[in-house]
Amino acid sequence: MNDISKPFRLTANPYEIVKVLSRVILDRFRAVSGVVRKLRESGVFDEAVFSEYSRLLKAVEWVREGEDGVGWRYFAMEGGRLLLAEKLRLRSGMRVLDVGSGDGWFSIQAGFTYPNVEFHGVELSEEFAEAKEYAKVFGLANTSFYYFNAFNMPFPDRCFDRVAMFFSLANIALNRESAQRLFIECRRVLKDGGLIGISEPFLEDFPKELRELLVRLYRLSRESCESILRFKDVEEALTEAGFRILEVNVITLHTTGSPIHRAKRYLEDYYGCEVPVKLIDRLKVDRVWVRDDPPQYRLIVAANP
Ligand SMILES: C[S@@+](CC[C@H](N)C(=O)[O-])C[C@H]1O[C@@H](n2cnc3c(N)ncnc32)[C@H](O)[C@@H]1O
Repeated sequence: MNDISKPFRLTANPYEIVKVLSRVILDRFRAVSGVVRKLRESGVFDEAVFSEYSRLLKAVEWVREGEDGVGWRYFAMEGGRLLLAEKLRLRSGMRVLDVGSGDGWFSIQAGFTYPNVEFHGVELSEEFAEAKEYAKVFGLANTSFYYFNAFNMPFPDRCFDRVAMFFSLANIALNRESAQRLFIECRRVLKDGGLIGISEPFLEDFPKELRELLVRLYRLSRESCESILRFKDVEEALTEAGFRILEVNVITLHTTGSPIHRAKRYLEDYYGCEVPVKLIDRLKVDRVWVRDDPPQYRLIVAANP
């Protein structure tokens, strides 16, 4: 079994650290599966072991498909969550707000890597409870997850050193106006001099030929509660909310997307609606991407002056 108590310092490539995290899940899953088999054979009921087995069964869904799987691709994001943590210049004793924490992977991956930093995730779906379970897999004591609305958080003013948003902006804010409202609320809870880091794929990060189709599919899809924002709109919204943009990095991904011959199935799985073949036939590209699996994204760092 891996020794998960040792912190990993970011001298290593973030992608390598994510691979270590996935091995922790797989090794622990194999070990606990063996215990469960023995309990069954010997007729013993052990609630603690079943609870651990249950959370591991769910956690391995993210890593077991190997590096070609979409679950793994999203879990790993080529080390992107730790790259965001690195850009936020985290120091011991800091308190970080993870806005739209989803299944918790930003806070968990960063919490594992920075054991002396606190991570607090806010999430408006039942995924906040999943995140708590995943954090237990790694024995993390420095992560918390709450069912809070990012537009109206119960936290006092100026209580966080950093705010992080990893692939959550366009889930929370569907347009420029709501992005600005969200940034104003983030600025309220951020200390003076604190930083906000946003990793987000924007419309400009997709090939021109694909942009119109991606936007159109959000209209066709009834289930979808996300959008793809324009970088320029977000840049303006951040500035108007009072932030000063310090840097914008374009991060290229190497393992994402689908070849055009599998585009129909890939897009339908993502958008949860039928994608007419004629829309795909019109495309002059040999590969397609979606927002959670983009060809590149931007990492913005801005300060609360
Ligand atoms: C793509 S997930 C984020 C992934 C996550 N940051 C990570 O590192 O894996 C975006 C999340 O934002 C959440 N969300 C949407 N609107 C929200 C709101 N008003 N307040 C808090 N969370 C919200 C969604 O429920 C969704 O789980």
